[in-house]
Amino acid sequence: MDQQRPVAAITGASSGIGVVFARRLAARGYDLLLIARRKERLDALGAELSRAHGAACQSLVADLASDADVAGVAERLRSEPRLALLVNNAGFGLHGRFFSTPVEDQERMHRVHVMATVKLTHAALREMVARDSGAIVNVASVAAYVRSSGSASYCATKSWMTVFTEALHLELKGLGSRVRVQALCPGYTHTEFHDAMGSDKTHVGASLWLNADTVVEASLRGLERGKLFVVPGFGYKLATAIVPKLPAGLRVWLELRNPQSKARV
Ligand SMILES: NC(=O)c1ccc[n+]([C@@H]2O[C@H](COP(=O)([O-])OP(=O)(O)OC[C@H]3O[C@@H](n4cnc5c(N)ncnc54)[C@H](OP(=O)(O)O)[C@@H]3O)[C@@H](O)[C@H]2O)c1
Repeated sequence: MDQQRPVAAITGASSGIGVVFARRLAARGYDLLLIARRKERLDALGAELSRAHGAACQSLVADLASDADVAGVAERLRSEPRLALLVNNAGFGLHGRFFSTPVEDQERMHRVHVMATVKLTHAALREMVARDSGAIVNVASVAAYVRSSGSASYCATKSWMTVFTEALHLELKGLGSRVRVQALCPGYTHTEFHDAMGSDKTHVGASLWLNADTVVEASLRGLERGKLFVVPGFGYKLATAIVPKLPAGLRVWLELRNPQSKARV
């Protein structure tokens, strides 16, 4: 293992946006900690990136809804002196109204999106701040800017990610630290996400879809420029600039008439 190469830790590296982050970062000379539950996928990706880019890759098999597994990953991050980037990307959606779905599923979402992000970010940041270098990308969503039927926990947890990231940014800037944080807020993106939650993708217009390469490219470009919020795609940029400024009454009125929101429940 080359002791000079930076290390990136990516959660949710077995699929979708996480895989693209892994490929892009390996091509840029990073060694990788690949984190998810599906070991065979992580091992296959690690082997591919080792062959293609000489990246040293370690699979960390973890269910990020489990306290014990998150503690294990956090310990690995704390012990990695070359850790230069953490991408908190693991996540999932649920189909159906909050009160019609098992509360355990809702809790699992909060654990993966919120508690794993808290603990892994804490583990990574302590060392990064001490070294005055490194970065954290929290993969939120444009859902952070809206509230919609069928996505109560999803919108709430993704919104939490953006608030958390902005507050960390303030702490770091206040210190004069060079450590950067970013909230990446993609819209609909072609990955396994919607299939995993069993949702009908046909109600989403073709023009709304992004591909994971575009999303990751925007994130990495944003990191180079020190951007706190990255919203890939012009339409989504416009929507996320306008929606938070609407009065709550108007927002609710519009959302109740949104066919996409109706299709989710
Ligand atoms: N696709 C979209 O339209 C979209 C839009 C906005 C934001 N996002 C966000 O983008 C992120 C990546 O999603 P994606 O679109 O790439 O979906 P994806 O293809 O379904 O990938 C999700 C990843 O999260 C991992 N994961 C899920 N639950 C986990 C758990 N309990 N423990 C560990 N890992 C877990 C999965 O790995 P294992 O199953 O192997 O554990 C997988 O690697 C998510 O946070 C999602 O909310 C997606």
